[in-house]
Amino acid sequence: MGADKIRLGAFLLPSAGATPAQYEEGFAGQNPNYYQDGLRDTSRMLLQAEELGFDFAAFSEHHFHVEGLELSNNPVMLGSWAAMQTRRIRIGQMGNVLPARNPLLLAEDLAMLDHFSQGRMVAGFARGYQSRHVATVGQQQNAYSTQPTDPEFAEHDRLNRELFNEHYEIIRRSWAEPMYKHEGKHWQIPPKGIIWNHPATYDMAPGMVAESGELDKIGIAPLTLQKPETIESFIPFSTSPATIEWAAREKVMPVIFTPILENAKACIDLYQKTAQSVGRELAWGDGVGHFREIVVADTDAEAHAIMERGLGFIWTRWHDWFGLNEALRRPGEKGVIANKPSTMRDRGYSICGTVDTVARQIETVLEELQTKVIVLWIAAGPAPIDGLLKSNELLVEKVLPKLGIELEQVQPQLRDEFTGRGWRD
Ligand SMILES: Cc1cc2nc3c(=O)[nH]c(=O)nc-3n(C[C@H](O)[C@H](O)[C@H](O)COP(=O)(O)O)c2cc1C
Repeated sequence: MGADKIRLGAFLLPSAGATPAQYEEGFAGQNPNYYQDGLRDTSRMLLQAEELGFDFAAFSEHHFHVEGLELSNNPVMLGSWAAMQTRRIRIGQMGNVLPARNPLLLAEDLAMLDHFSQGRMVAGFARGYQSRHVATVGQQQNAYSTQPTDPEFAEHDRLNRELFNEHYEIIRRSWAEPMYKHEGKHWQIPPKGIIWNHPATYDMAPGMVAESGELDKIGIAPLTLQKPETIESFIPFSTSPATIEWAAREKVMPVIFTPILENAKACIDLYQKTAQSVGRELAWGDGVGHFREIVVADTDAEAHAIMERGLGFIWTRWHDWFGLNEALRRPGEKGVIANKPSTMRDRGYSICGTVDTVARQIETVLEELQTKVIVLWIAAGPAPIDGLLKSNELLVEKVLPKLGIELEQVQPQLRDEFTGRGWRD
């Protein structure tokens, strides 16, 4: 058996609150009723996740989703919305699509979210795989998605990584250093030649302006409420070795997408080896999370039906086109992977069934991958909300106790200078 304590994350896109037939009618993403319905479902899932003891909930970043399947253009705003409804669950993003974002503005927004939520912000950064979004939103930075079907994949992937890495460094420095300057390939912070000989800045922020009167450094305000070095960050969907290596060096948790045990184990091997090379001694499996759908119901057939109306619909109708089924390919397997909900179940991505069925499969995941973090893709929106609520209740109240597993939550560590009196008090 693997861990006896694990952490659960809820990945809540959200999607439009519509049935598969309503999506097929077109433009579900622009229907005001479906968006409100989707928010209502998401809110119910969020509040339940908090009550059940999930460690965090996370929202995605996708733009122009008029189809309605991934209606989540601003995970930080959704995070603020979530922070106002909750008290304990931590709030993240999976993820902020970093190559196409302004890292300074994002660092500020996340610091604000950290204050709004009183220290519950966790930070997730994705490289971004949808060209429609990344190339349009990120055109001023010359950003591209990492879409395996892109004919210019190698060059675009390289550019994407270059921007991602530099933006991440800027965000971390913005949180950790009251004032800094950064000279990178894409960013000069602050730019040269900005005259800022403001007497108040000389008095109230000494060191920001050089004697010449030129701006020499910047700092964001507010800083995060958490101690910056303790803020947990995630990089979702990582299967490319360079991402795993980067994450291991930066102490970022990759959320592994593939359920194929051999492939996931290779990612864990690489993560552990790279971490060791920079002086991080980790037990095998530590520091790495895994992504799954889990649907529990009274019968296997009922669980399959919920899954097929929810993620089974979104994945086969939308994600297959981006190559997501490649994550389900077994080592050495040739040919097309059948784009069907049953493929997702048979290969262990969607763990669906009765308490007993699900318990057996989770036990295998924990034993084989020695993980302490599982992120659940919860397809609120198309899937029937009552089925999903019941599923998570069964998972936490029946499946995990059957395996002797308790849920754990990370306690935020706040800055020493914070008195403890927050805005809600
Ligand atoms: C849980 C999860 C959440 C993700 N969220 C997003 C997202 O919000 N926006 C996005 O463009 N990509 C998202 N991705 C995909 C990643 O951006 C991208 O495909 C991945 O970083 C590429 O993998 P690599 O870095 O290993 O090459 C997500 C993947 C997973 C597993």
